[in-house]
Amino acid sequence: MSKEKTITKVAVNISKQAAGLSFIIAFSIVIISISLAMQPADILSPRKAMALGLVNLKPKGAGLGLYKSPDTSWQAPDISTVPSGKAGDRIRYGKELLSNTAKYFGPRGSVARISNGMNCQNCHLEGGSRLFANNFAGFIANYPKYSERSGKTESTSERIAECFERSLNGKVPDTSGKEVQSMLAYMKWIGKDVKKGEKPYGSGIKKLTLIDRPADPIKGKAVYMMNCRGCHGVNGEGRLALDKRSYVYPPLWGKHSYNDGAGMYRLTNFAGFVKNNMPFGVTYQKPLLSDDDAWNVAAFVNSQPRPHREQHNDWKNLKKKPIDFPFGPYADKFTERQHKYGPFNMLVKIK
Ligand code: HEC
Ligand code: HEC
Repeated sequence: MSKEKTITKVAVNISKQAAGLSFIIAFSIVIISISLAMQPADILSPRKAMALGLVNLKPKGAGLGLYKSPDTSWQAPDISTVPSGKAGDRIRYGKELLSNTAKYFGPRGSVARISNGMNCQNCHLEGGSRLFANNFAGFIANYPKYSERSGKTESTSERIAECFERSLNGKVPDTSGKEVQSMLAYMKWIGKDVKKGEKPYGSGIKKLTLIDRPADPIKGKAVYMMNCRGCHGVNGEGRLALDKRSYVYPPLWGKHSYNDGAGMYRLTNFAGFVKNNMPFGVTYQKPLLSDDDAWNVAAFVNSQPRPHREQHNDWKNLKKKPIDFPFGPYADKFTERQHKYGPFNMLVKIK
């Protein structure tokens, strides 16, 4: 090889290397900035996300009547109309307890340390006032009520205690104490326009059409990573607030989450709640996930580890067991697996 040729070759090699190097540098900058952008510290608070218009509580079509609810739909009374004075103070305290439950009953609570650190409002959005966000519209109007789960007629305070034991994986609070009584005062006030025995449009959770296939946890994981992880964490652990007393983003599984005796552990509840309320900020009028995504992400989350509750005494009357209750025995021939993940359409209709 001639000297010139060698020089040219060396030059070409050097420039190739330089190009390679600058590519590597540019690439690393991109990767570093992406990973920085994904740092937990940069995750937006729900309020900020809403302010930036990333999530949107007011559906665009609402003004045009596109997503108008029927005239019979429930509307929570305006909190500013709570009367002043002692009775009003109780109602306001009740709302405060539902919104910031951890502060009073969590692991570092000021009243009693009997729950996992979640707030009632994590699942009963906006103090249980929002349409199809697991609200309390028809609660007081339908209690006392015979509960097929416990096999007895339950009072309102017993029903509240159940969410403490299951959803908050905790203990029964003092049901005659000021706190539970104030929660009840608030729930009574919020449902004051609902007639005895009625469940107005918009109450509770809007359930999805039952699926004709099993919900798929593997597909659900992809939905989770894309739409939920940013707030609820890669291990479903949620994110604690700076004071470490309560969550900014509540956990979805693991030891601080609801136990397997909770309503959210049933797929129809989870899928119906998530489709119409998550990612945080969507509403039933303008959901983001498809029904399929909602079922699959429900299957993924509810196949992760969480606290277990001994519940052999629940649903003694097998004929009344909900189709998506994942623990046998059953009155039909279907397996626990099918009762957990579906297909549900071939099972009896749920309440
Ligand atoms: C992890 C989610 C979650 C949390 C947290 C939670 N709940 Fe619930 N709650 C549910 C679900 C789901 C239902 C509906 C279950 C069903 O009907 O099977 C429900 C039902 C209820 C009901 C009955 C409503 C009705 O109309 O019949 C009351 C009352 C209630 N919860 C109160 C509370 C209180 C008080 C707290 C806090 C101490 C709380 N919940 C925390 C998920 C939760
Ligand atoms: C922008 C942040 C954000 C995203 C993204 C998000 N969530 Fe949430 N999620 C929240 C917040 C905040 C709450 C509690 C609401 C409150 O307390 O007002 C919540 C509550 C919940 C709850 C009830 C409480 C609990 O911890 O069990 C479930 C279930 C849930 N989210 C599931 C999901 C799923 C599934 C996705 C993805 C499809 C998702 N979320 C995406 C912020 C988010």
